[in-house]
Amino acid sequence: MVLFRPASPVEGTAMPESTIPIRAAFFRPWPGTIPAPLDLTGEELREHGAVGLSGLVSRQSVLTAARALTTGLRQHRDADRDGLTAIQDTGRHPGRIGYAGLGRTPLSLHTDGTHDPSPPRLLILACLRPGQAGGRTVLADGSAVLRELLALRPEAAAALTAARAAYFGGPDGRFSPVLEQTASGAWRIQLRQDELARFAPDTQPHLAVLRQLISSQSMSVTLGPGQAVVLDNHRVLHGRTGFTGRRLLLRALGDAHPHLRLGHGFMLPVSSPR
Ligand SMILES: [Fe+2]
Repeated sequence: MVLFRPASPVEGTAMPESTIPIRAAFFRPWPGTIPAPLDLTGEELREHGAVGLSGLVSRQSVLTAARALTTGLRQHRDADRDGLTAIQDTGRHPGRIGYAGLGRTPLSLHTDGTHDPSPPRLLILACLRPGQAGGRTVLADGSAVLRELLALRPEAAAALTAARAAYFGGPDGRFSPVLEQTASGAWRIQLRQDELARFAPDTQPHLAVLRQLISSQSMSVTLGPGQAVVLDNHRVLHGRTGFTGRRLLLRALGDAHPHLRLGHGFMLPVSSPR
């Protein structure tokens, strides 16, 4: 069973090989036995930026996995007291800026927590109930996007690394690079593409190529009951297709447990544009 497929082929181009593995074994049982699930999860996250888990069939099991994988759940505006957020169509948020996740419309690929100078490193999306139709989870590996950008359009990569390349959020938002290289040489990507994202004049000419590369790297998966994706939120962008039915996902955000050995970002085997 192939679980991933290209999300949106770019016209006139061949689809690249996804850097997120396409194989039936993507979803690993949680809790696993041997080797330890934390070891395997960390290895997959370091290599691909994403790993699938299965067996998260209840709120408690999602919570248990999230607590094991993070140093503690980060609170979110929309989260419940236990730190988990129910991602579903509440019927109360149509058209409200910044609340599209609580509706049923498609969501552009984005990073979670861009209002925060240090967005949570891990994002867990667990499906308790799929929708009737649609609702595919879309993923794009920012590492592959950056690698292509540096190779093909280094001037675009340079513009996107500017400290004020983007402004994320409302009146209390912040300026941010879209692509950021840390002192250690590791990278992270931060992006949103909704009404709460604005881009500097020097950045805007490069958005089209950035979006094209993101699109060409996008893959999608329909999560079944109990299936979850664990994402390196500093590397992998996520979104969804629109859906019908009573789709219910639980979301957890947090910083990576040291046992996962994620470091401070993702490394590229090439030099920076700086
Ligand atoms: Fe999100």
